[in-house]
Amino acid sequence: MLAPLRVGIAGLGTVGGSVLRRLVAQRALLAQRTGRDITVTAVSARDRAKPRDLDLADLHWFDDPVAMAKSDEIDLFVELIGGSEGPAKAAVEAALQSGKPVVTANKALLAHHGMALARLAEERHAALAFEASVAGGIPIVKTLREGLAGNQVERVQGILNGTCNYILTRMEDEGLAFADCLAEAQRLGYAEADPTFDVDGFDTAHKLAILATLAFGVALDIESLHIEGIRAITPADLKAADELGYRIKLLGIAQRVGTRIDGRVHPTMVPKTSALAQVGGVINAVTVFADAVRELTLIGPGAGGEATASAVVADVADIARGVRSAPLGLPVAVLEQADTLPLRDHAGGYYIRLSVRDTPGAVAAIAARMAERSISFESVVQRHPPRRDPGSSGTVPVVLVTYRTVESALQTALDAVVADGYIAEAPQVIRIERE
Ligand code: NDP
Ligand code: HSE
Repeated sequence: MLAPLRVGIAGLGTVGGSVLRRLVAQRALLAQRTGRDITVTAVSARDRAKPRDLDLADLHWFDDPVAMAKSDEIDLFVELIGGSEGPAKAAVEAALQSGKPVVTANKALLAHHGMALARLAEERHAALAFEASVAGGIPIVKTLREGLAGNQVERVQGILNGTCNYILTRMEDEGLAFADCLAEAQRLGYAEADPTFDVDGFDTAHKLAILATLAFGVALDIESLHIEGIRAITPADLKAADELGYRIKLLGIAQRVGTRIDGRVHPTMVPKTSALAQVGGVINAVTVFADAVRELTLIGPGAGGEATASAVVADVADIARGVRSAPLGLPVAVLEQADTLPLRDHAGGYYIRLSVRDTPGAVAAIAARMAERSISFESVVQRHPPRRDPGSSGTVPVVLVTYRTVESALQTALDAVVADGYIAEAPQVIRIERE
């Protein structure tokens, strides 16, 4: 039998704690499965005095994760601190520099520095594994990199943030307020240390950038992605979507369009009958459209300590077995630099909710502005009778659903509607994916 694989874990929070417990509890099984004993020998976190439900008695404590990453006491560095800069980046770089394999769940780090880290890993002949960085317990990295190696991938899309899906599901099913649902997701260990990454769409964008690199063999500039979160989604939108036969999901979508990548993150209305509409709570779903398999969907828990630890431990087991792949699926030197398709060129259906001033001819004028841009409606619904506040002219909520149109035409039409003064608030626009 090979010498034991000595593991150091940096970060003992939601994920790090679960990984440590799982490596200890499954030690015998993992030894059988990998042919090598896997033993945690060292740990690092910010506050040594913090009470933790973990047995750290026999482990070497490092205050500094970089020192642990360089230490001869470990053979494998597991980074579960988080953040694209600071100690996580410094420690991962230090481990790779010293030729040690790295396992991380850190999508922000990968999305911003994946190329440089993969290059360093290649130079140092060290593994860099990050299954847990996308969609928690779903093995989508392995699926794209190994399982679909014989396919040309055309499109990859999915519900990639457990926190947002949890919030939208709870708001829709229980009528709860956004802030209460977010607090629940935080309590359950789903949210990022800074939950704005979740609710403003950045976490989904980080994951989408990783998926696009693996799927299309491209280096994608995260700054060039269109990113919208779920903060602006109101109970009125969820109710209107329900009545129209849709659900609202935060989707990450990437597809090849010629030499460019159409990459975007935004709330999306999907038909209630679609597979994605059935995915509720913290569950994630990723669909890959590829030439040989046609369509493949993986569904599973997208966040939380145990689900994420499942993916981290799978990477640890691969390294114990000696499995090695190019971290990004292809050597960094052959990855293409890809441009992204501007959102103004996106074509699709749109849901538009307008707060229309109760003035004769207002709806007709709005329809005329849309018609000028050849935008036609699948449905127009005046949702409630006008509110007649004393001294105010009142507003009427109007929901429009368009047939397929181009984003730039819609934006121009809406700009004209705003300029005409017929609406009292900024229009709410949600893109529709009907397939
Ligand atoms: P937590 O905030 O729960 O844990 C972070 C840990 O890092 C804590 O133990 C903290 O120490 C430690 N830490 C912070 N700063 C330092 C530092 N300077 N030096 C050493 N240790 C430090 O985060 P999570 O466990 O939720 O997330 C960890 C990583 O996993 C992130 O990259 C996240 O994006 C990713 N991830 C999280 C998922 C989830 O569901 N939570 C799912 C998939 C990925 P201390 O305990 O002393 O404060
Ligand atoms: N905060 C992330 C989410 C954790 O909610 O999906 C999993 O990556």
